[in-house]
Amino acid sequence: MDAVVIQDVSKRFGSTQAVSRLTLDVQSGEILGFLGTNGAGKTTTIKMLLGLMPPDEGSIRVLGGDPQEASTRSRIGFMPETAAYYPYLNLHELLFFYGGLCGMSRAAIRARASDLIERVGLGAAAGRLLKTYSKGMLQRAGIVQALLHDPELLILDEPLTGLDPLARIHFRDLILELREQGKTVFFSSHELTEAELICDRVAILKQGELVVCGAMQAIAGDGERNLERIFLNVLDTDTAKKEVLA
Ligand SMILES: Nc1ncnc2c1ncn2[C@@H]1O[C@H](COP(=O)(O)OP(=O)(O)O)[C@@H](O)[C@H]1O
Ligand SMILES: [Mg+2]
Repeated sequence: MDAVVIQDVSKRFGSTQAVSRLTLDVQSGEILGFLGTNGAGKTTTIKMLLGLMPPDEGSIRVLGGDPQEASTRSRIGFMPETAAYYPYLNLHELLFFYGGLCGMSRAAIRARASDLIERVGLGAAAGRLLKTYSKGMLQRAGIVQALLHDPELLILDEPLTGLDPLARIHFRDLILELREQGKTVFFSSHELTEAELICDRVAILKQGELVVCGAMQAIAGDGERNLERIFLNVLDTDTAKKEVLA
């Protein structure tokens, strides 16, 4: 089954064509890296996947349903690009708040939160106000928040930004473990090396258009053409794009 089906989706802001006729499927249980430079249209696509913003044209199905429906959204975990969490809560309080919104009991939140907090290395800081957190700590809190209700589909917008190397390794292990549990992960990034290590498939967006989409092994598996090179080629010239896709 497809976890996400994006069909011929376009979105425009005034004179900016943020997303242009995007068609993309994400299969259940796979990790898809949604790549592109700043302004390529990644966050706009993610907002449409979450039902936060309707497409101008085209259609989107998420977990077989309409992303505008609460029943669909409750099965998705989302980590925003920049988390604007209430600064005068500590991490436990933040998780009680979000878990409560998802209909979780306090006992269930407590049980799941303590494990996740340890996993991302925030055990010692969980009682501190979020306003004292560094960027990387907030990113890690965001990962915990996204995973709290044990969602089937994870949508992560630039989850690696601000993470130090150790946190990246923990993050990678966590994502790979989620795949073992049969979860689907859709994450946007411009961290190519990391994407190469984690993803089953990658989709590269350039000025709102999908220019490369394929299995990681098929497009970068021969050792010579690593993802970084493909990315550069695709961004540079249209001839290179044809060569990559051939
Ligand atoms: N709410 C908005 N109003 C106007 N322009 C926007 C809005 N959101 C995004 N854009 C524009 O759409 C394009 C794609 O942005 P975005 O999806 O945020 O890219 P990315 O996440 O890949 O960096 C950019 O040119 C951006 O300036
Ligand atoms: Mg973005």
